[in-house]
Amino acid sequence: MNREASDFSPGSRHIGYTVVCFVAVPVYDTEVCLLKKLILYGSKHGCTEKCAYLLRDQLGKVDTVDLCQSPSVDLESYDTIFIGSSVYAGQINKAVARFCTANLTILQKKQIGLFICCGLPDKAIEQLETGFPKKLVQIARAKGYFGYQLDMARLSFFERMLVRVLGKRQNERDIRHAAIKDFAQIFMQAS
Ligand SMILES: Cc1cc2nc3c(=O)[nH]c(=O)nc-3n(C[C@H](O)[C@H](O)[C@H](O)COP(=O)(O)O)c2cc1C
Repeated sequence: MNREASDFSPGSRHIGYTVVCFVAVPVYDTEVCLLKKLILYGSKHGCTEKCAYLLRDQLGKVDTVDLCQSPSVDLESYDTIFIGSSVYAGQINKAVARFCTANLTILQKKQIGLFICCGLPDKAIEQLETGFPKKLVQIARAKGYFGYQLDMARLSFFERMLVRVLGKRQNERDIRHAAIKDFAQIFMQAS
């Protein structure tokens, strides 16, 4: 028997076939998917902050938090976290040190990059490795020295006296743009 579509749908005439496909289109929560990288930093006189923003320019979509201003941060939605600090009297920034210690367990589950700004290039990585918690140093995918800046007008009276004793009387600046770029590329290539 020759069955027409009109047999199934009274009043309509069969004129051909069509194919209906069901395609599963992934739907992303853009907040969760895009905000994957975070830069945390502590800066006393602005150099580390400047370097944090130079790093951000290399990475694209990244959140940036000054730990001296916002000491508590929700790290849950980030998978890569960069942490930067300056060095004074051989110590990393107190807010950065406190944050790393308080959040060590969750930080150890992330991809970590550590960077430092300090006036002694030859001792930079040594100061980074003694300043940050050992466990973070061990898992860090990159450790960077981004240079330093000494701006006399920003220093306190005491700090000015101290650097004068070390023979420094003028502004100095050596921000290492190439090092920041290389550091960012290590992460971009791996992800
Ligand atoms: C009082 C004083 C102490 C410093 N102590 C050190 C130090 O122990 N080791 C070092 O490598 N750099 C030292 N520096 C250099 C700073 O780490 C450098 O200027 C850095 O760029 C400051 O970063 P910030 O502007 O983000 O605070 C010192 C600078 C000052 C003014």
